[in-house]
Amino acid sequence: MRIILLGPPGAGKGTQAQTITKEFSIPQISTGDMLRAAIKEGTELGKQAKAVMDAGKLVSDDIILGLVKERIAKEDCKNGFLFDGFPRTIPQAQALVDADITIDAVVELQVPDEKIVKRMSGRRVHLASGRTYHIVYNPPKVEGKDDVTGEDLVIRPDDEESTVRSRLEVYHKQTEPLVDFYKDLAAQGKTAYFAIDADRPVEVIANEIVAKLRG
Ligand code: AP5
Ligand code: ZN
Repeated sequence: MRIILLGPPGAGKGTQAQTITKEFSIPQISTGDMLRAAIKEGTELGKQAKAVMDAGKLVSDDIILGLVKERIAKEDCKNGFLFDGFPRTIPQAQALVDADITIDAVVELQVPDEKIVKRMSGRRVHLASGRTYHIVYNPPKVEGKDDVTGEDLVIRPDDEESTVRSRLEVYHKQTEPLVDFYKDLAAQGKTAYFAIDADRPVEVIANEIVAKLRG
C-alpha cells in the first residue's frame, strides 16, 4: 500500500502516521524528519536546509526529490510506504507521476488554521525517531520524555508562532493546490482520495483513516 498524508503543518500527519504504518506494516517517509536528521548530523544538506526550514519556507524540489528517490529504492519500501509531508508542491507530485510511482490512497487531514497555532505551541518531539506528543492533547507517559526510549523531548525550532504562520501561508499557496491535483487523479480512477476532519481526538481520526483505507 502506498499512501500520501496531506495536510497543513500541525494537522497531525506525524501523529496519524504512527497508527497507519503499524496497521499496514509500511515505513513512514517524512521528508521533514529526514531533513531534521541531516541538520543534526551537520551534513552539507542539513546546513542548507536549516535556514530555509527555520524561516518556514520550502526546501528546493530537487533536493527533496533526490532524498525521496533514494529512500524509496530501499528494501523496506517494497510493499509500500507512507509519505508524510511529501509531496508538497505540484512539481513534486508531478515527478511521482512522471516516474510511474502510483499512489493507492491520498488522505487529506483538514484542520482550521486557528486551531493549528494552538497545537504547535504544545508540541514536543523525540528528534531521533520523529515521535510527536502534545503537552495537553497527547502527553507522554513521563513528562518531557519519549515513551519508547526515555530520552528527552524537545520543542521544534520552527514551532514559534510567527514561523507557524509563515508555514501556514506557504501551505495554502504551494501545497493546497495538491488537493485538486489528487482529486483529479481520483476522478480518473488512478488513486483513492479521502478527506478527513482532523479536528477531533487522535484515536477517532486514526480509526476513521484505517477504516477508509481498508475499504
Ligand atoms: P514537516 O516536518 O513535514 O512539517 P509540517 O508539514 O509543517 O508538519 P508538522 O510536522 O509540523 O505537523 P504534523 O502534521 O506532522 O503534525 P503532528 O502530528 O506533529 O516539515 C518541516 C519543514 O521541512 C518544512 O517547513 C519545510 O521547510 C521542510 N520540508 C519538509 N518536507 C518538504 C518537502 N516535501 N518539500 C519542501 N520542503 C519540505 O501534530 C502537531 C501537534 O498537534 C503535536 O503536538 C500533536 O501531538 C498534536 N496533535 C496531533 N493530532 C491532534 C489532534 N487530533 N488533536 C489535538 N492535538 C493533536
Ligand atoms: Zn510532522
